[in-house]
Amino acid sequence: MRFSTRIPPELESNRLALALAQRRDEGQTILDLTGSNPTRAAFTYPPDLLAPLADARGLAYRPEPFGCLDAREAVAEDFARRGMHVSPAHIALTASTSEAYSLLFKVLCDPGDEVLVPQPSYPLFEHLTRLDGVSSVAYRLEYHGRWSVDLSSVERALTPATRALLVVSPNNPTGNFVSQPDLDALAGLCARRDIAVISDEVFADYQLDDDRRVARGVLLDRTDVLGFTLGGLSKSVGLPQVKLGWIAVSGGNALVNATLARLELACDTYLSVSTPVQLAAREILNRGADIRRQILARVRENLARCATLVAARPACTLLHAEGGWSAVVQVPTFEPEEELMLALLSERSVLVHPGYFFDFPRESFVVLSLLTPPETFAEGLARVLDRFGTDTRL
Ligand SMILES: Cc1ncc(COP(=O)(O)O)c(C=O)c1O
Repeated sequence: MRFSTRIPPELESNRLALALAQRRDEGQTILDLTGSNPTRAAFTYPPDLLAPLADARGLAYRPEPFGCLDAREAVAEDFARRGMHVSPAHIALTASTSEAYSLLFKVLCDPGDEVLVPQPSYPLFEHLTRLDGVSSVAYRLEYHGRWSVDLSSVERALTPATRALLVVSPNNPTGNFVSQPDLDALAGLCARRDIAVISDEVFADYQLDDDRRVARGVLLDRTDVLGFTLGGLSKSVGLPQVKLGWIAVSGGNALVNATLARLELACDTYLSVSTPVQLAAREILNRGADIRRQILARVRENLARCATLVAARPACTLLHAEGGWSAVVQVPTFEPEEELMLALLSERSVLVHPGYFFDFPRESFVVLSLLTPPETFAEGLARVLDRFGTDTRL
C-alpha cells in the first residue's frame, strides 16, 4: 500500500516515550512535569460546568458555516474583555485551534506552499502543515534576557512560495508575547509580499509578569496586513475536550471580505462545530472565568517557586517568561539532552521535556509545565536541579 507522504514514514515512539511507558508498566511513580492537560492537573471544575451543553435547542440542526451568531457575539465580547475589538461578522468558529490552522492553510496555500513558523515553538506545527500539504519553514526567535524575533532570519526564510507567517503570542514554550516593534516589522514584510499573518493567542490570558516596558503587538487592530487571530476554550477556560476554537479575521476591508467568502466555503464544507457547543459557548465562556483564575494563580505560583529554586543553583538559569504555561531552565551540558532526560527519568523518577522537542537552537534546556500541581512541581524541579550542584541556600 502506498500511503500519503503527509503522514511521516517513521511512527515509532522516541526513546524517552519508550522509557516512560516501561516505567509506568512497572508501576513506578513518576513526577511528571510535562502535563499540559488542564483537566488532569487538580483544578476544581464545578460538576455542572458543562450543563449548558444540554440546551434543548440543540435538538434542531441549523447549520451556519461560521457558527451561530450568539456564539460569535460571545467570542467578540471575550476579545473585548481583553481590550480588543472585532465584529462578530469577522469571527469563524472552529472545533479547535488546530482545526483553525488547517482551515487557514486550505484557504491560503496550495500544495507545496510554505508557512513560516517560529523556532523554538510548539512541535505540532510540523504535523499541522504537513497534513495540509504545505511546508513549515522556521524563522528564529533569539534570547538576550528576553525573547524577540530574529528579523534577518525571517527575511532569509521568505520565498515566493511563502503564504503565511505564524506568531504565537505568548509563545509555547518560550513565553514571549510578540512585541509591537516586532509585529510592525513582520506585518511590513508580509504586507509587501501578500503574505498573511496568523497570531496564535491561545495562551494570551496567562500573563506571567507585569513588565510593560515593551508594548505588545496586536494583530487584530491592524489594517495593513491580512491577519488571523486564533483562540479557543482549550486554554482560555481550560476545557480542551469541549472542542471550540475561533478565528478572527482582520485587515483591509476588501481583502477581509474576499477572505471571509473563501473561509466560509471551507467551513461550510466541514461544519465541524457541534450545535450544542455553539449554543453553550456564551455560558461556558462566562463560567470558565473561574477555571482561568485557578490556572493563572497556579502558573504564577509555580513560576515564582521555579525562580527561587533556580536562583539557588548558580549553574542554572530560568529564562524570562512573559506568559503561558511553561518555564524554560537552561542547565549545563554534561551530556546530550536526550541522555539527560533518560537519566532524570531512571535515576530520579522525574519527567521533563527537553529543549530539542521545541527546536531550541542548542543544548541544554529543560522545559517544565507550570500547570503541574505545586507540590509535584517543587519536588520534581528540586530533583532536576540537584543534578547540577548543591542548593546554595542549604
Ligand atoms: C501554541 C498552541 N496553539 C494551539 C494549541 C492547540 O489548541 P487546541 O486544543 O485549541 O487545538 C496548543 C496546544 O497546546 C498550543 O500550545
